[in-house]
Amino acid sequence: MSTLILKGVSKRFGGLQAVAPFDMEIVHGRITGLIGPNGAGKTTVVNLITGVYKLSGGRIIFGDTDLSEASRHEVARAGMARTFQTIRLLPDATVLANVMIGMYRLQKTSLFAQMFGLPSSRAETRRFRDDAFALLERFGMTRYADYPAGNLSYGDQRRVEMMRALALKPQVLLLDEPVAGISDVEAAKLGEIFRALATEGEGMAVFLIEHNMRFVTNLCDYVYVLDSGQLIAQGSAAQVVQDPAVIKAYLGEFEDA
Ligand SMILES: Nc1ncnc2c1ncn2[C@@H]1O[C@H](COP(=O)(O)OP(=O)(O)OP(=O)(O)O)[C@@H](O)[C@H]1O
Ligand SMILES: [Mg+2]
Repeated sequence: MSTLILKGVSKRFGGLQAVAPFDMEIVHGRITGLIGPNGAGKTTVVNLITGVYKLSGGRIIFGDTDLSEASRHEVARAGMARTFQTIRLLPDATVLANVMIGMYRLQKTSLFAQMFGLPSSRAETRRFRDDAFALLERFGMTRYADYPAGNLSYGDQRRVEMMRALALKPQVLLLDEPVAGISDVEAAKLGEIFRALATEGEGMAVFLIEHNMRFVTNLCDYVYVLDSGQLIAQGSAAQVVQDPAVIKAYLGEFEDA
């Protein structure tokens, strides 16, 4: 497991400096949080990491690999998986199909073996199914395996997105507002799952963007704070919530609301 390192990373959209140069480390075995008011640049950071946007400056290093110029597919192959701020599922496909959709990337058997249904390929398909069911179990969703994903509640659709990302067996899991619109009780359950992912085995690097301050302060080991594209604070949750710059940024947001 490696640490994902961002060094001097920045993004400009025409005249807008969406993210000014900043450094960040997303460390395995830890839950790292990114918070900040609307339009701060949080989603842009995930889009930079995952190769959706090209960097305007800086470098992204993951272990021995320089991902600064990597495409989305190269980033995924390197071991990163994400969820989106808005739900992106195939609504008519079953929950199980939605979870399994990215697994072809993990395939080891040849296309030939698959076409002719050779035992090696059948065993692999079975393993994928078993892995998908293990995820459904973890998220308490086995009874929905054959439901069309679009029929589920909002919170359950978010869970399907997380399972789909986890099906790729990532080293780094990037979550864009995973508990937005979810009750505190349900959010706490998800928080326990994120903690387990970070703790068990080699320890996944979990990175989450969040608006819900209480969730972040209860869960994250380390927090970065963006405001209008500037990194204004970082440290433990306890440290950043007392930081005057952070309080000011959030007060501004409440005044706007
Ligand atoms: N593709 C794009 N083209 C132009 N401007 C963009 C693009 N993507 C983001 N921006 C701008 O960059 C800034 C940061 O946006 P971003 O979506 O990263 O913010 P955010 O912190 O995720 O906000 P929110 O909390 O509302 O999700 C905003 O001013 C946004 O309008
Ligand atoms: Mg966003």
